[in-house]
Amino acid sequence: MKVLVVGSGAREHAIVRSLALDPSVDKVVAAPGNPGIAALAACEAVEGGVSSPEGVTALATRVGADLVVVGPEAPLVAGVADAVRAAGIACFGPSARAARLEGSKAFAKEVMSAAEVPTGLAHVCTTMASVEEALDALGAPHVVKEDGLAAGKGVVVTDDRDEALEHARACLAKEDGAVVIEEFLSGPEVSLFVLSDGTTVVPLTPAQDFKRVGDDDAGPNTGGMGAYSPLDWAPEGLVDEVVTRIAQPVIDEMRRRGTPFAGVLFIGLALTPRGPRVIEFNARFGDPETQVVLARLLTPLGGVLLAAAQGRLEEVPALRWSAEHAVTVVVAAQSYPGTPRTGDVVTGTDDADVAPAAYVLHAGTALDDEGRLVSAGGRVLSVVATGESLAQARERVYAAVAGIGLEGSHHRTDIALLAEQGAVSV
Ligand code: AMP
Ligand code: GLY
Repeated sequence: MKVLVVGSGAREHAIVRSLALDPSVDKVVAAPGNPGIAALAACEAVEGGVSSPEGVTALATRVGADLVVVGPEAPLVAGVADAVRAAGIACFGPSARAARLEGSKAFAKEVMSAAEVPTGLAHVCTTMASVEEALDALGAPHVVKEDGLAAGKGVVVTDDRDEALEHARACLAKEDGAVVIEEFLSGPEVSLFVLSDGTTVVPLTPAQDFKRVGDDDAGPNTGGMGAYSPLDWAPEGLVDEVVTRIAQPVIDEMRRRGTPFAGVLFIGLALTPRGPRVIEFNARFGDPETQVVLARLLTPLGGVLLAAAQGRLEEVPALRWSAEHAVTVVVAAQSYPGTPRTGDVVTGTDDADVAPAAYVLHAGTALDDEGRLVSAGGRVLSVVATGESLAQARERVYAAVAGIGLEGSHHRTDIALLAEQGAVSV
């Protein structure tokens, strides 16, 4: 089959890499892709950009795609999956209405409440008076979330009431602005991706992401600075519990509402002392968690995504996972998560340059006029390594990162460190 992958990040590079390894996939086209993806797939531009339903559908038709896989949230929320399906092409990714589980935190809370899914208490506010009331009702630490899409950067967690108020004011100042004030959930965070065709639910393997920019979780939130899988410290039965108490009830509730969710439901959890609580839903694969999850998936990816897109997940045999550990470290441009510096030459990314069992996935990269690889975004590369132990995977990933040259770049040095030390517990 021919697969069109929409997106240009390291997540899409990981998806393309897995598809290229699937014997049932003859050809992968990426739109727009990036220089790393170009080594594995034909990269094509989309007229009107990746969030244009007409543009993506026209490209899928032109390249004869049997399956379209939508990576980022913006095209999903814009209705790309609806348009592709309407053209008779199988699409892995939820409809615009189902993608509201990610697009609106207020909507997600409403669905969770209807499905009796465990999550933090929350107040949806549209005035500063109600914000003040909610902050007082829930107490510190304050969790203040922009209602709409914000690339992982719309959340402020703080003990400082003034900072909470300031973020709430900024959220409300936007058009149709609303803000969610939420109960603080303590405990380690876990990302679990669950595939669904609208009815059946197939969990992938849990991963942990590192959202803050600096070591020891210092600094502001980012899209994600690194991840690892498996989570040896996670409670036994966690995945089953999350499927039974969270994923299946949400998928059933979405179907009941006439807006079935077909694609990947990304469940962001806090493992609190009172059990798993949902922090957020996303309607897509996580970045950088996908890089480590797919590094461990032995079952060919294309067939599974096609089955989800065609309502046949029930027929898919149990997924097979490598027992190896995988770690990914994001190499970010200077000033990320602020406005990143771009245009710097990137070196050390060739397969020949990286440590054993390590590889480099591209995100914000481009080729300059002279054909040199240069930085073109905040998160520039996602370096991935596998190993028989977490320690070995970490050693390999950091050896590979050490070989990358990018002026002004930064990365976290403590991805998966606490887990390696056995210092993560619920
Ligand atoms: P979100 O965009 O909802 O994933 O939030 C980004 C990050 O903010 C999460 O990964 C958490 O680290 C933190 N966060 C969000 N909601 C809460 C909460 N209710 N309690 C504690 N931390 C939270
Ligand atoms: N890594 C978190 C996300 O993709 O939103």
